[in-house]
Amino acid sequence: MTCEVFLGDITRLQVDAIVNAANTSLLGGGGVDGAIHRAAGPELLEACRQLHGCATGDAKATPGFRLPARLVFHAVGPVWHGGHRGEEALLASCYKRSMELAAEHQAESIAFPAISTGIYGFPSRRAAQIAVATVRTHARPPLERVIFCCFDQATAAIYRGLL
Ligand code: AR6
Repeated sequence: MTCEVFLGDITRLQVDAIVNAANTSLLGGGGVDGAIHRAAGPELLEACRQLHGCATGDAKATPGFRLPARLVFHAVGPVWHGGHRGEEALLASCYKRSMELAAEHQAESIAFPAISTGIYGFPSRRAAQIAVATVRTHARPPLERVIFCCFDQATAAIYRGLL
């Protein structure tokens, strides 16, 4: 399994699965969630409605509809409250559950955004350490390629340092 850093918009990536940084309602929002729903089209919201929400730390799968990606894994990261409310374990759980979904759906490639580091306020460096460590721990064939999709140079530099 190889890990790569991509700087740009996750909705453009031609991979088996992209991960969404969703909220517990799974009914859309801002940030990467908004971008994914816009690019996938209204069928995505319809599919999400049928999932009846998702707990923090968990992830659920839908098709990618109009996206180049075949699947979307909607992961719900924790809101950062200072680090004493289990935020690190909950963030690790998002990556673990997404890797389990990748195995279930036989994905060979997956792209992750920096879950929880936008609106939810999780510190970027600590989040990247958790992302890389958890993905490495849970990588199984047929998964060959993991892309850490960063939306800004600073985040990309953190991931490049870790990889
Ligand atoms: N491609 C890749 N990364 C992106 C994109 C994109 N198109 N757009 C933003 N990012 P955020 P969160 C980066 O706020 O912190 C939503 O309203 C962004 O720069 O999208 O988990 C949901 O519905 C940041 O590094 O997600 C939830 O309510 C990272 O994606 C809430 O936001 C995550 O930022 C979730 O907050």
